[in-house]
Amino acid sequence: MSATESDDDPVSALRGVRTSIKWTRYAPDVLPLFVAEMDFGVAPQIQEALIERVRMSDLGYLDGPGPLAPAFAGFAADRWSWIVPEDRIHLATDVSVGIVETLRIALPEGGRVAITPPVYPPFFELIDEARCEVAEVPLAEQWGTYSLDLDGLERAFAGGVSVFLLCNPHNPVGLVHDRETLERLAAIAARYDVLVISDEIHAPLTHPGVVFTPFARVAEPAGARSVCVTSASKGWNLAGVKCSVIVAGDARTAALLDSLNEEVACRTSILGLHANLAAYRSSREWLDDAIDRIVANDRLLARLLAEHLPGVIYHRPRAGYLAWLDFRGIGLGDDPAVPIREHAYVALNSGLTFGREGRGFARLNLACSPETLREAVFRIASAYPSSAQEAPVWWSAGIPARG
Ligand SMILES: Cc1ncc(COP(=O)(O)O)c(C=O)c1O
Repeated sequence: MSATESDDDPVSALRGVRTSIKWTRYAPDVLPLFVAEMDFGVAPQIQEALIERVRMSDLGYLDGPGPLAPAFAGFAADRWSWIVPEDRIHLATDVSVGIVETLRIALPEGGRVAITPPVYPPFFELIDEARCEVAEVPLAEQWGTYSLDLDGLERAFAGGVSVFLLCNPHNPVGLVHDRETLERLAAIAARYDVLVISDEIHAPLTHPGVVFTPFARVAEPAGARSVCVTSASKGWNLAGVKCSVIVAGDARTAALLDSLNEEVACRTSILGLHANLAAYRSSREWLDDAIDRIVANDRLLARLLAEHLPGVIYHRPRAGYLAWLDFRGIGLGDDPAVPIREHAYVALNSGLTFGREGRGFARLNLACSPETLREAVFRIASAYPSSAQEAPVWWSAGIPARG
């Protein structure tokens, strides 16, 4: 089944067969548009690869990335012109584990790790799990446009931050950091010898016309140390099969990653490895199809909000399928996801979990059928009819809109 076939079942059909958190956390009358999982069917090549491994009873332990190293390197070269030496690629259970294990070897005695809220909520906990301290350097925001606060990051680096956990592309705002910004970041990181761990899990889902730059591509020439943590799990919707890669961006970091405990690879799922292999090698068409569906939903959501909830400001993603919605203009309080779930029966992610900067915001998942998206907006607009009021001037001027 491809991403464009009949796999966009109505929500009720998916609820009948799927058992993940998306389908079990809330009552059946709640439309689940929260956790970052897709409603699309898994790529046929990946389904086959998984079935084949089970058929072969090939379900043992792993010793390292094996064929995944050239498969990932091939994808990175074709998609992003990033040439990755295969011996710099290591295996981990998932991207979260990759972050924690990298922090453990980079900062064995603990240390300060910068993050840029609003940001993927587990970043706070992963740093804590590695017995390190969070240093918050919020994204800069002006007229609905987010960017890295490079001056703030430089101050943090000068003030004792040892590692920067970069989200590239950024969850939840869908920002794909441009090359020039990343080059400036690399220069600052090199100046203070800060290791940048770049979480690039959303990169395969970069939208057409947008250029994604792997941080390592600009870091190494600038003399900065970097690690890329990534997986096919987001792009191809494979979170449950548990496999990711940790990639050293330079020779010094390669030596550091060679000290990863061998258990890190052993704890990775062999099914996950084969699913990732099939994704990078033979499911690129499926990926492009999925991106097209996401981009169509992005446009649809922009239209639906303009029509039915014009007071809600939509920060449109340039990668991935997460929509960052600003409800402050319509008075739903600090945590709009709560009243929206209770009164409109739509489950969104609470903006507050992304950091203080998420107050008044919520995150919506666009990787669903257009029907589901329409239903979600209609439910919210019906629950809050007074929200169909004037939009902020700069929104109606179309400043944050694209495409
Ligand atoms: C930025 C980011 N990193 C990591 C993850 C989780 O990845 P994994 O399941 O491989 O730990 C997510 C999931 O949505 C994410 O958005």
